[in-house]
Amino acid sequence: MRDLTGKRILITGAGRGLGREFARTFAAAGCEVIVTDIAADRVAETVSLLHDAGGHAAGYVMDVTDPQSVRAVRHQILSDRGPIDLLLNNAGIVFAGAFEDVSLERHLSTYQINLLGLITVTHAFLPDLMRQPEGHVINMASASGYIPLPFAATYASTKWAVIGFSESLAEELRLSGKGHVRVTTVCPSYIATGMFAGVTLPRFSWFLTPERVAKLTLRAVQRNLDVVRTPWFVKITPLAKALFPRPVFRWFCDWQNVSTGMTSWRGLAATKPLVEAHSLANLPAGRISPAVSEPSSV
Ligand SMILES: NC(=O)c1ccc[n+]([C@@H]2O[C@H](COP(=O)([O-])OP(=O)(O)OC[C@H]3O[C@@H](n4cnc5c(N)ncnc54)[C@H](O)[C@@H]3O)[C@@H](O)[C@H]2O)c1
Repeated sequence: MRDLTGKRILITGAGRGLGREFARTFAAAGCEVIVTDIAADRVAETVSLLHDAGGHAAGYVMDVTDPQSVRAVRHQILSDRGPIDLLLNNAGIVFAGAFEDVSLERHLSTYQINLLGLITVTHAFLPDLMRQPEGHVINMASASGYIPLPFAATYASTKWAVIGFSESLAEELRLSGKGHVRVTTVCPSYIATGMFAGVTLPRFSWFLTPERVAKLTLRAVQRNLDVVRTPWFVKITPLAKALFPRPVFRWFCDWQNVSTGMTSWRGLAATKPLVEAHSLANLPAGRISPAVSEPSSV
């Protein structure tokens, strides 16, 4: 989708972190941004940031794990604004620790948000994308979708599944004459949002900035690319995994600190209150900001 001017993009989990940066980047490229998140206050904050920067934005509270909430928000958006052109499935959580020490509830909620939520939202909005002259689905996976990530097995496996889902859906759309809807899968290593605070980074790597990942994703959408892999070592990971015998690849992951990197994770402090508080609050789906703001003179 070369020209994004006036295109309507819905972003899940856009209340903070990478989702908020995606919102900024796509708004700056001329998109009308539909900010959604489970946390109402964060939706309002992101919308107000976009308005202050002169962007077009509206916000809706949407829990990706609740099909009723997703259907209600879609209905509301169709009546307030019209169909979307792009869908960016960004909402996600992580819980690290030895598999048996992390509660089953947390393992299951990782699946509900990272995978089932992504499928629920895609299922609801894909028909709208198909009716547009051009449509685009962008799915947030991760570098951990290509490798084993010990001490975050459920998180990594949701991302393996997201990659499989995205690539399969892309081919299905192409084969069924709906190739005007493209799919891009985004697979970055660690990003400085706080989600992975405390992890031991792989050798010769650094925390990516949300700005960099958002910029690469925008460029991939404009060029209709299938995948974003960043930084350099993520680009070679699928090939290295296919070429090297398992013991060699295992040695490499151990040497790179990938195998044990999650043992020092302390991102839970940021994740726990948000997810658990909001699921308990049982927030109704609803609008935060019905009006698309006119660009300000700033
Ligand atoms: N941060 C990283 O290092 C990194 C690396 C690779 C991939 N990713 C992926 O990028 C995405 C964004 O990560 P982030 O670092 O910005 O995380 P974050 O925790 O800063 O933001 C996640 C957002 O998702 C929202 N959310 C949580 N549950 C939700 C639900 N049920 N419904 C709707 N929204 C919900 C949260 O409110 C929050 O605003 C995730 O899918 C993550 O797996 C992150």
